[in-house]
Amino acid sequence: MNNLLQLCQEEVDALHTAGNLTPHTIDQVKSKYLGKQSELSKQYQGMRDLAPDQRKDAGKQLNIVRQGLESIIKEAYILAEQTEINAELAQALDVTAKGRPLPEGSLHPLTHAYNEINKIFTQMGFSVVTGPEVEDAYHNFYALNFPENHPAITMHDTFHLTEEDRLLRTHTSTVQVHAMKKLQAPFRIATPGRVYRCDHDATHSPMFNQVECMVVSENCSFANVKWLLLKFCETYLGKELAYRFRPSFFPFTEPSAELDIKWGDQWMELAGCGMVHPNVLKEAGIDHNKYRGFAFGVGIDRLAMLKYNISDLRVLYENHVEFLKQFNASL
Ligand code: PHE
Repeated sequence: MNNLLQLCQEEVDALHTAGNLTPHTIDQVKSKYLGKQSELSKQYQGMRDLAPDQRKDAGKQLNIVRQGLESIIKEAYILAEQTEINAELAQALDVTAKGRPLPEGSLHPLTHAYNEINKIFTQMGFSVVTGPEVEDAYHNFYALNFPENHPAITMHDTFHLTEEDRLLRTHTSTVQVHAMKKLQAPFRIATPGRVYRCDHDATHSPMFNQVECMVVSENCSFANVKWLLLKFCETYLGKELAYRFRPSFFPFTEPSAELDIKWGDQWMELAGCGMVHPNVLKEAGIDHNKYRGFAFGVGIDRLAMLKYNISDLRVLYENHVEFLKQFNASL
């Protein structure tokens, strides 16, 4: 009978050596040595045929063997668990294991646009400056020669804040006012930034981006602004453009024009420009008899749409990874 203990132990050892000691294989050994069909079970059944005085001794013997087998099986389970834990630990400590790749991000197309635009203006000798996005009516309108209650003010679809006389700037022209008051003429500045209007469709977003350019000097002209605006757009887009300047109206420039670019078979409105109105220079404390100015404001989102051939501006703000993934650092 003690032979059973030895056989059982040998089977467990063999499984262990073969690296195959698992709860499942131990179950099989258990059922072979302790199950209903086992030798041990038969021996227990055979006790019925023994004389009562022999039965007691035999029962004792069998119980000893059963306990021995049970303890071999119990140890085997513990060993299997330990082996599994060790294997996991060895893996966790495998310094040669391949790392998990991190998903690679990319800059947003508008960030690319900002970077490139700043570079172009800096190379042309402009200072890049910024201004606040929360403004008051004075900087957004009145310092820019909008008459009080002028319909143009309502046409701007302004977001008014609950705090009195606070609004989200509707254009970057507000920075003209800050710059004129702060800088000594002559100067040239470019000011990119976010602007806001209650407007939303495939070519308008309630938040969008503009870059304003302003030059104040003694002898600049309308020819200069036309040349510079077009040169800027062509440099950014990297190609010659089919364009048209349309006479237009802005309270802060006179004369004023808008620049349209041919896009497919359509014209797309891209920028407003003009000579700074003398009232605007005067309001900012600049001698309008000595200095003239010109300015333009271009939609950065629209420039980016043209550059990357995007037909719906909204994709720029929906943050779909599949869309954004296309704009890797090489752009
Ligand atoms: N601020 C104007 C707009 O948002 C654009 C503009 C800028 C026009 C500078 C003339 C001069 O539409």
